[in-house]
Amino acid sequence: MKKMRNLKLRFSLTVMLLALSATAVAETKTAPAAAKPSHGEYKDWRLLSVSHRTEKETLRAILGNDTAIEAARKDQTKPWPDGTVLAKVVWKERAHPNWPQAIVPGEFAGAEAMIKDSKKYAATGGWGFAHWDGSKLVMHEEAKVKECFACHMPMKDNDYVYTFSALQ
Ligand code: HEC
Repeated sequence: MKKMRNLKLRFSLTVMLLALSATAVAETKTAPAAAKPSHGEYKDWRLLSVSHRTEKETLRAILGNDTAIEAARKDQTKPWPDGTVLAKVVWKERAHPNWPQAIVPGEFAGAEAMIKDSKKYAATGGWGFAHWDGSKLVMHEEAKVKECFACHMPMKDNDYVYTFSALQ
């Protein structure tokens, strides 16, 4: 009788352990997928420059669509032509795990856009300000646009753009 009870106990313990390890496996499997960001069309665009914002501890890639890259290579960016889209893709900085002196992209921190249409966005220097929500490009609302434009104002003589192409 006692042996029987022991067996039962052992059996239920094994079942519990199995169930626990199954949830652990399921969690480790889903965690990276949930953290993986989806990116917008800028994934296929070419590089204009990179920047490291020390005060924000972030790394950025500044990319351009075809219109932007062609204009930059011809040095025709004052003003940038209509149809230009500039993307600023931001990651938190982190030390490379195998080479701590190398600062590399860590967690994805979002992607902003500037879209040139001199008529449509005449009130803000011809630039529309937007951001990517996953793979979708979403225009910012008016209050936010004012903030964006105000901080880009010091670059008026460079068509409100901070970036100087590093790959002409
Ligand atoms: C507090 C100042 C500030 C504000 C506010 C700001 N920016 Fe910028 N932005 C910068 C600076 C400085 C750079 C260049 C360095 C860098 O890469 O961050 C830049 C670069 C960019 C670039 C790359 C092209 C360029 O001008 O070099 C884009 C695109 C951009 N910002 C979009 C936006 C959008 C959209 C907003 C509003 C949601 C915004 N910015 C608000 C300061 C600002």
